Order: sequence, then structure tokens, then C-alpha cells
Amino acid sequence: MAKNTVQPDSPPDLGRDSHERGIGMTVHDPCDLVVIGMGYVGLPLAQAATEAGLRVVGYDLSTDVIDGLNAGRSHVDDLSDADIEVMRDAGFTASTDPAVLAGAATVVICVPTPLTPEGGPDLAAVLGATGNIASHLHRGQLVVLESTTYPGTTDDEVRPILEATGLIAGRDFFLAFSPERIDPGNATFGMRNTPKVVGGHTPACTAAAAHFYRRFVDTVVEARGTREAEMAKLLENTYRHINIALVNEMARFCHELDIDLWDVIEAAKSKPFGFQAFYPGPGVGGHCIPIDPNYLSYQVQAKLGYPFRFVELAQEINAGMPAYVVRRIQDLLNEAGQPLRGIRVCLLGVTYKPDIADQRESPAKPIAVELMDKGAEVIFHDPYVQQWQLGESTLDVHADIDAAVVSADVCVLLQNHRVYDVDALAAAATLFLDTRGVTSHSSAVRL
Ligand SMILES: NC(=O)c1ccc[n+]([C@@H]2O[C@H](COP(=O)([O-])OP(=O)(O)OC[C@H]3O[C@@H](n4cnc5c(N)ncnc54)[C@H](O)[C@@H]3O)[C@@H](O)[C@H]2O)c1
Repeated sequence: MAKNTVQPDSPPDLGRDSHERGIGMTVHDPCDLVVIGMGYVGLPLAQAATEAGLRVVGYDLSTDVIDGLNAGRSHVDDLSDADIEVMRDAGFTASTDPAVLAGAATVVICVPTPLTPEGGPDLAAVLGATGNIASHLHRGQLVVLESTTYPGTTDDEVRPILEATGLIAGRDFFLAFSPERIDPGNATFGMRNTPKVVGGHTPACTAAAAHFYRRFVDTVVEARGTREAEMAKLLENTYRHINIALVNEMARFCHELDIDLWDVIEAAKSKPFGFQAFYPGPGVGGHCIPIDPNYLSYQVQAKLGYPFRFVELAQEINAGMPAYVVRRIQDLLNEAGQPLRGIRVCLLGVTYKPDIADQRESPAKPIAVELMDKGAEVIFHDPYVQQWQLGESTLDVHADIDAAVVSADVCVLLQNHRVYDVDALAAAATLFLDTRGVTSHSSAVRL
């Protein structure tokens, strides 16, 4: 069982100098932290640690990313160029040279974990990053994996690479997993006030990781071990995935039954216990929700030989939502006596969540592709996307949203960006499909 630890304690002592030189180590300036992978996860972590007074170096393979940071440019939504300047003023530096790892008291891995074409986890970046750490590993160093992955990765994949140096986890260096819970675009919960789960290879490893994170996170929750911490992340995202699938499936039959599901959810969420509101939409997007549950179902199938049925059903339902949206557009046109072929559809909001620029796994893409395959002309507006890559075609944004809406035969609200006056847009449109349930104008049709 996970136990809460609230009191900061002193760092666990292995009885050795934390900067003692190790195998293959080159001489490099000491620092408190090297973050490997300067993306949506790594950069905010580097910011929080820098702000707390730690000396931080960001390491990434991409010269574009590192050059940008060293020139004071941010490439992730939650940080501005001004934030990068503040970090740099406080001593933050960025590098493509893995030798920086040699001087680090702590190394945190925040590299991508995509899926292979077969649907399994692609650990290439994690293993590559771990190999680099191993080349510079030294006694007393703390290594933390934050990349989302299947249970057992820290122990079965990362640890053997590090221990091939001759140093042993829990004896010579500390090893832990700590799931990232960042929610890009969330103005309420950031690094400091979102509790951080840590699970170490040994209790001393857990204590070392907890001590490290307490320097810039208010609440650290110690899990029993690395596997429990890894599984906690997958439980969180699988829970979300399944509950979104539940309301997406309900959206379909509530439409047939002429019941407004959004109104149903408003009523149900008045219950102060035992219910958490999830909302239907055009499908799930982003790097986590459509992908992470696959790590788990893949592992259950591969190791135990049976399916994780909840995940598979949720995948099927959520993956079917873009096609359902296209069908609903066709139904709207049909009622107006129009075929889909040859008409102009204006998609509003093509990112995977509101108020950010990230388009990864956005359901807007399969919707646009199917509409184009069926002969419709697709135009789009999104305040965060200037050019939209759809397979071979590149669409330029229609910057004048009012003109775009008026020019289209049908408008579809896919993402409710804060800047949208959705009722005014619905009033101006010929036909308006609202996949987010946020309009109240009578001419808007909810999903
Ligand atoms: N984005 C999110 O909201 C989010 C939330 C929770 C967890 N996660 C998880 O965190 C991890 C990182 O995700 P992200 O969104 O920050 O990815 P990202 O693509 O935004 O950034 C990853 C960075 O790592 C760099 N990189 C890749 N391989 C590398 C290597 N071997 N060495 C050094 N740098 C390398 C890339 O150049 C890139 O800049 C993933 O496992 C993801 O599932 C992401």
C-alpha cells in the first residue's frame, strides 16, 4: 500500500561522496539535476527545479530544441520565452552533449515512449537515454525515470543497463520511477501543487527520490516500489480513457433517444460522492490517453496471454468517434437535402485539447481525412495552428473566423478554445455541429 510522507527528511546517505567519479566519467561542472528530454514534460520540470534554486542542465538530442532554449525560445505551450529567460538568468543551461550527465547529482529521464507499429511500447529513447547515463554513472547518483511506460520497465530494462557498469542500484546509486502528471494548459494544477508519486528500487531509493522532489513539489507520495509507481500512472490514464469511452458510447444512444447527455451529466455531478464527471467529444487525443492504456493491455496479453477487455472496448469506442462525427455531419446535411460531396466543412479547433497548440493524436485529423475522402472541401480555424498537415496535403488556417464560418455549408466545433464565442459562431453558421456540448444557441446541434 502507498503511504503518504509529508515531512522532508535528509537525503539518504550511501556513505560515499555523491560526486565521486565513476566508470567512464569525464570531468564536467557539477550540477544538481540533468533533465533528459526537453519536451512538454522535461522543460516544466527543469523550470520548477530551477525556480527552487537547483542548478539545472537540460539535455536533448535535438539541436533545434537546445539552440532554441539557449537563444531564450520556448517550444512548449506552458512556458513563454520570458519564462526561459528567467530560467537562464537563474543558471539554467541546455546542451546536446551527454558529458553533462557526469556532473549531475540527479538525472531525470523525460523522453518519449511512443507505440511501435505493432502496438507495443517503443522503448528506444528510454534505452538510449539510459545508455548515456550508464556511460557517466557515478556513486551516489539518483536516476529517475518519468517517461510513461509499462510496469517493470525501470527494474527489467533500465536497471540492467545501469548495473552493467558494475555499480549496483540501491547500493551504489539510487534508482526510482516517478510518473509525470503534467496537464498542459491547466492553469490551476502545475508542478508544485500536483502530488508526485515516487517508487524506488529499494526503500533508500524511494527516500532519495522523495527527498529530491520535495525541493519543488508540495506533496510527495511514496509508493511501495517502481512497479507500483509505474502502474499508478497507467491506472490513472486507463480510468480516464474508460470513462470517456463510457460517455462517448452514451452520447450515441442519448442522441437516438433525444436525451441531452450534457444536461444528464450536469444533473449527475451534483452528487457529492461516488461520481466524477467525464464529457463526450469527437474522440480522444494527446500523447497519453489514447496511448498509455495500450502499454498495459500489451503487457497483459504478452505476459499473461489474456486481453485487458476494458481497455480494448474503450479503444474501440473512442477510436470510432471521428467516424461517428462524420456520420452526424452527413445526417445534418441530409436533413438539409445536401450530399457531403462538394460541400465546404469548416472545422473549428483542431488541437487535441483547448487552449494549447499540441496536435498529437488529435481526432480532428481522422475527421478531416474522412471528410476529404468523401469529397468534401475542408477548411479550418484554430488560433494555435497556422498550417495543418493532413497526410500529403497542407491546409492554411482561415485566419478570419467569421468569414470562414459564413462561407461554409456546415461548421463543426471540435475544440472549445477559450477565445471562441461559440454561440455567436453557431448563430452565424448555416449548419453547426457542436461536439463539445458548449453552445446554447438554438441553431447548434449537439453531438
Ligand atoms: N505531454 C504530456 O502531457 C505528458 C504527460 C504525462 C506523461 N508524459 C510522458 O512523458 C514522456 C515525455 O513526453 P513529452 O510529451 O515531454 O515528449 P516530447 O516529445 O514533448 O519531448 C521529448 C523530448 O525528448 C527528446 N529526446 C528523444 N529521445 C532522446 C534521447 N534518447 N536523449 C535525449 N533526448 C531525447 C526529444 O528530442 C524531445 O525534445 C513520455 O513518456 C510521455 O508519455 C507526457
